[in-house]
Amino acid sequence: MRQNIVAGNWKMNLSFDEADNLIEELVEKLEENELAPNTRMIVCPPFPYLELCSDASVDSYFAVGAQNVNENDNGAYTGEVSATMLHSMELDYCIVGHSERRAYYGETDALIAKKVDQLQKYDITPIFCCGEVLEEREANRQFEVVKRQITDGLFHLDKEHITNIIIAYEPVWAIGTGKTATPDQAQEMHAFIRGLLAEKYGKEVADEISILYGGSCKPSNAKELFANPDVDGGLIGGASLKSEDFFQIAMSF
Ligand code: 13P
Repeated sequence: MRQNIVAGNWKMNLSFDEADNLIEELVEKLEENELAPNTRMIVCPPFPYLELCSDASVDSYFAVGAQNVNENDNGAYTGEVSATMLHSMELDYCIVGHSERRAYYGETDALIAKKVDQLQKYDITPIFCCGEVLEEREANRQFEVVKRQITDGLFHLDKEHITNIIIAYEPVWAIGTGKTATPDQAQEMHAFIRGLLAEKYGKEVADEISILYGGSCKPSNAKELFANPDVDGGLIGGASLKSEDFFQIAMSF
């Protein structure tokens, strides 16, 4: 059975002390309350706070992931972080292909595919992001765009490797804008993505893959979004920076 997942993408936010407070508050809440069965919480802080968060996660209340990775093993790549490093810290997850990396750092589908491979080589589960920008949605091209991102970013994987992927559908027009996709819009795209996976790998495999929604997800809309059959949780930006909001979202299953 596929997992319900609520992952927090802190992006480039918080001082060390703020990160420390946030993670402590989260641990306290998780010690006092249990998440629904088959529900996993993942926290993706900036690189400098990974150790802080993974130390706090020792009792497995939540898992920790990075926000990006370099496509090479190691070497002269100033400022970059490798999958071997993340692996040596025993991290289990890493976001790849976030729209902010596609837009501001020119990441292509081909580069993202290499990062996916690199992570899997070191047993780290990629949280693979896809989603259309506003102009594409307005031109009714969202399905074509997401199909290309999924095909070019993931479909080189074999059956065994595709099941070690989490997909996050994040319509770019909903990220940080307060404008959330409606539950119907989210379900429609998630079902489309699952259909693509089923066509390529078979229904059984497609049914095992968690597909998360991202874009202005908050406590007030999480329940309605997660209630859809193909929405298996969320990738949360802004609301993951407030322990109570993030926790409430995780309790929305
Ligand atoms: P917001 O929740 O702030 O809209 O961000 C979503 C996101 O980009 C998560 O990766």
